[in-house]
Amino acid sequence: MHKNKGPIYYGDYLQLSKLLDSQEPLSKKHADETNGECHDEMLFIIVHQVYELWFKQILHDLNSILETFNQDYVPESALSSVVQKLSRIKKIQPLLIGQFDVLETMTPMDFLEFRDLLIPASGFQSVQFREIEIKLGLGTGDRLNVDREFFLGRLSEKDKTKLGEPESAPSLLKLVEKWLERVPFTQIKNFNFWEEYQKAVESILRDDEATIMQNSASLSDLQKKAQLENLEVTRSTFRSLFDERAHEELIESKQRKLSQKAILNALFIMLYRDEPMLAQPFQVLTSMMDIDENFTTWRYRHALLAQRMLGTKIGTGGSSGHQYLKRAADNNRVFIDLFNLSTFLIPRSRLPVIPAEIKKQMNFYV
Ligand code: HEM
Repeated sequence: MHKNKGPIYYGDYLQLSKLLDSQEPLSKKHADETNGECHDEMLFIIVHQVYELWFKQILHDLNSILETFNQDYVPESALSSVVQKLSRIKKIQPLLIGQFDVLETMTPMDFLEFRDLLIPASGFQSVQFREIEIKLGLGTGDRLNVDREFFLGRLSEKDKTKLGEPESAPSLLKLVEKWLERVPFTQIKNFNFWEEYQKAVESILRDDEATIMQNSASLSDLQKKAQLENLEVTRSTFRSLFDERAHEELIESKQRKLSQKAILNALFIMLYRDEPMLAQPFQVLTSMMDIDENFTTWRYRHALLAQRMLGTKIGTGGSSGHQYLKRAADNNRVFIDLFNLSTFLIPRSRLPVIPAEIKKQMNFYV
């Protein structure tokens, strides 16, 4: 704990003279007899500045989370601090989404009054937003080609260099992949969990097939055929989970991001979340999904804002505007593999029983 080092003044501590002196509407600077200062430009500046401050706080927490994961062994005790920081990011995100309501009190006509003064500046140049995306796991190479061009083309050389650093460092996605690959329990002597899991899945699918056959009286031949075909698709989806080559192909075609081993271990955590030892890893995975989902919501909300303000006009940064932003919201998912794991969840009552010896280790028994 630090001790007081002498009197400190509120405004000095928060550097308010700097902070509150940092709003300079361009419409005020360029005001003349025909065009005066635009009242709403102050709101436009302040809302953006508040976003950047929250981005700074998110990066502060994200950097600490990355540091924790960037070690060969992540102690259990460190996970609670990771969960706490992920939760903080999750609490900040609704504020980011909510701020659009405040900005939308500015009408599109009011925006038009000063919009041209901003060209070619745009949110494309928010280095902190990019840094968050890259650090979470959305590298420049993960973007669609056309988006990459826009994004890089709008940045100054200084900012490009700045982003090179996080780009070459391991992202949260990559570090969590390594961490997941090290999860024990699934390959313990005398207990091949995945063999047991596959048997459970087979038995569930056989039950489903039996149900279809039993109800066949109420189904037309076409309906029955369609249901059996769907069941076969489900069966092959489950099989693909264990097919190493199929998984590699999915990674190459960018349909999967995490290694097969990491995905299987994440699934194990999801399935046995009730075991005390897995409760915190489960929290880590769910928090990452929440953060991904909240950023997606932010992107859709921002796309709607752009449509409301611009209609189908292009953005000040030169993109197609609303269309570009909607596409980015669809594509720029980071932890999508974790979402897709729900495909492979099975009811608790059908889960393979974990041998007592392993269960003991998962319960913090000595
Ligand atoms: C009147 C309000 C706003 C409009 C009309 C608007 C519009 C746009 C448009 C059209 C783009 C695409 C790039 C371009 O062609 O310029 C964009 C990108 C972006 N904007 Fe906004 N925006 C607004 C407010 C905000 C606010 C308040 C933020 C908060 C920081 C923000 C952050 C971003 C970011 C980070 C991008 C890059 C998104 C990406 O490439 O995935 N925008 N904006």
